[in-house]
Amino acid sequence: MAAIEYNVITVRKIEIVEDKEELNRRAAESFIEIADEAIARKGSLTTALAGGSTPRSVYELLASEPFKARVDWTRVYFFFGDERFVPPDSEESNYRMAREAILEPLGVPPENIFPWETECDDPAETASRYEKTIRRYFDLHKSGENDHIPRFDLILLGMGPDGHTASLFPFSPALRENEKLAAANWVEKLEAFRVTLTFPILNHAANVIFLVAGVEKAETLAAVLEGEFNPDRLPSQEVEPLDGRLVWLVDRPAARLLTEESI
Ligand code: 6PG
Repeated sequence: MAAIEYNVITVRKIEIVEDKEELNRRAAESFIEIADEAIARKGSLTTALAGGSTPRSVYELLASEPFKARVDWTRVYFFFGDERFVPPDSEESNYRMAREAILEPLGVPPENIFPWETECDDPAETASRYEKTIRRYFDLHKSGENDHIPRFDLILLGMGPDGHTASLFPFSPALRENEKLAAANWVEKLEAFRVTLTFPILNHAANVIFLVAGVEKAETLAAVLEGEFNPDRLPSQEVEPLDGRLVWLVDRPAARLLTEESI
C-alpha cells in the first residue's frame, strides 16, 4: 500500500506596508482575525509575544479602542517567545514591556499570562520550567490535536539586524536544539544568557508573523528572504512553520532592498 503523502506546506506571505503606523494597524488587525478564528473554533487563543521595541506599539494599539473591544481577552493566553535573563521588573524584560503595553491595560487575568521564571539563578532551569509550563497548559487544554509538540495559534516574532529571532542568535548553541521546546542560550556578543523558544515549537505554530520595521533592517531582510539559505548565520531563515501560515509584515523602509521575486 502506497505511503500516504501529506503535503505539509508553509504558506509564506510578505506584506509590505507604507510605514510603522500602518504596520501597527495591520499587525493588530491580523492578531484579531486569528483570535476570532481560534476563539470561535476552540474557545481560546494561545499566543507567544515577541520582545524588543518594534512590537510595543502593536501591543499598545491592541490595548486601545477600537481594537480592545473586539476580543474577549479572558480567552487569550499569553506566552513569550523569549526573555532576557533579567528580573521581571527589569527595564530589559520582555515580560515587563508586554505587561505595561498590553497586559495591564487590558486587565488580562494573571492565570492567562505565562512569563519565563527568570528569578531563578540558572537559565537552563528557567527554560526547563517553561517547557513544563507550556506542556502543562497544552495538555490541559488539548483541542483535539494529539500533537507531541504544542501548537500555538499565533507566534509573533521580530528580526534583529543580525538576522536573529526570538533569542536564537547567529551561531548560538540553541540553533541546534531539536528536542527541547525551550532553551537557555549563551549569546556571545551580549555576553549574556537568554532563554528562548526553539525552532521545533516555532515551526509547529498555526500562524507566525514577523514584525520588521525600519531602514536599518533592509539589508538583513533582503538577505533572509532572498539570499543564500544559511540559518546558522541568519536564524530567521529557519522559521518555516510546517502546515502553518508565515507572514512577514514589513514596512517600506525595511523592504527597500527586496526585489519583485519575493514580494
Ligand atoms: C528580544 C526579541 C528579539 C527582537 C529582535 C528585534 O528579546 O529582543 O525577542 O528577537 O524581536 O531583536 O528587535 P526590535 O524589534 O526591537 O528591532
